[in-house]
Amino acid sequence: MELLKEYNPYLSYENGELTLEGVPLKELAREFGTPLFVYSASFIKDRLRAYREAFPDALICYAVKANFNPHLVSLLAREGAGADVVSGGELYLALRSGVPPERIVYAGVGKTEREMLQALRAGILAFNVESFQELEVLSKLASKEGKVARVCVRVNPDVDPKTHPYVATGLKESKFGIDASEAKEAFRLARELPNVEPIGLHVHIGSQLLELSPYREAVLKVYELYRELKREGYNLELLDVGGGLGIKYRPEDREPTPHELAAVLNEVLTGFDGKLVLEPGRSLVGNAGLLITQVQFTKEKGGKRFAVVDAGMNDLIRPAFYGSYHHAVTLEERPERYEWEVVGPICETGDFLAKNRRLPELKRGDYLAFLSAGAYAFAMSSHYNFRPRAAELLVEKGEVRLIRRREDYEYVISPCF
Ligand code: LLP
Repeated sequence: MELLKEYNPYLSYENGELTLEGVPLKELAREFGTPLFVYSASFIKDRLRAYREAFPDALICYAVKANFNPHLVSLLAREGAGADVVSGGELYLALRSGVPPERIVYAGVGKTEREMLQALRAGILAFNVESFQELEVLSKLASKEGKVARVCVRVNPDVDPKTHPYVATGLKESKFGIDASEAKEAFRLARELPNVEPIGLHVHIGSQLLELSPYREAVLKVYELYRELKREGYNLELLDVGGGLGIKYRPEDREPTPHELAAVLNEVLTGFDGKLVLEPGRSLVGNAGLLITQVQFTKEKGGKRFAVVDAGMNDLIRPAFYGSYHHAVTLEERPERYEWEVVGPICETGDFLAKNRRLPELKRGDYLAFLSAGAYAFAMSSHYNFRPRAAELLVEKGEVRLIRRREDYEYVISPCF
């Protein structure tokens, strides 16, 4: 298959111009300016459908942290997804975007009382509880409110997800969850405490998993615990296996599909009669999106060719933060030539988007698209160097919608006055 289509089947060169869902991207860059995020709605719908077909009885809770644009969240909600949230802000956003509260799960090691109250009042499906103290505070607040908090205990299964250490969450030494050895104690406490009802288990071992064996190992451990707890008389009904399915970033990456994940989980979850919850983020939206940027200057220095572009680490921090690879292509189809350092305008040596990258000849005014920029790109953007954040567009079958205006200086300064 053509390489671009392996990232996103709606991405291709037509008459030498890069297009997404039939829309020529250069025209969008000229009309809306750069840096610019463009997402493909059909891709996101297809991905959700693939999850729903692979897991017909499960609840798919989109991990809002991957991309919190309300238009994407509501698109997913309309197609039947719930939401996995990690802050009061994400809960607010999910509700505002039309996600029904009974399809919302809330994880996070540091929920504040205010956030817990907000979720209690909304009546979410479950709190994924990460500590003993959280259980106690939740019980106190729920009692005061006259509500019952449904909780899943987030178990840390001590499994190495074989991913970047910054996104590995299921190792014993990480801050997440309750150690598997203490999970039963957490259930005993939950049973004793007023106004909390333990209804299940949650596990999320990490993100960008290209291999399924760690996933299998983690779910196996947690399902064993689930069965033991049921035998001990707990009335469990939810098993939330988190997110984490990896996506193609490098040309040589092969991403696992929801069907492959289902095959692995079905084999492990024999006899499971509860409700399965999944929390995919990146695999739903990551390869739906591109970041388009324009070359400002080129120069040769220290034996290297630099292309200085108008997107920086404030727009896409993943290369600087994790050393991540994001594939780049020019908007005009041209043969590759030279190795380039693609760098941003920010006053940090770490402000690069691509290193030692084979790309076509680049000159001032050319446009580049960075792929796999639908997840953890805009969502991790900042105002560093007082740079207003980029605009976001959603395209679908030739139609274009502006789903976030470009910020301006006044917007960025306004909270100060
Ligand atoms: N559920 C929980 C509890 C999570 O912590 C996460 C991601 C997800 C679901 C969704 O995981 P996904 O399916 O997207 O892998 N900023 C990093 C990724 C951090 C992921 C944090 N948690 C990156 O840019 O790679």
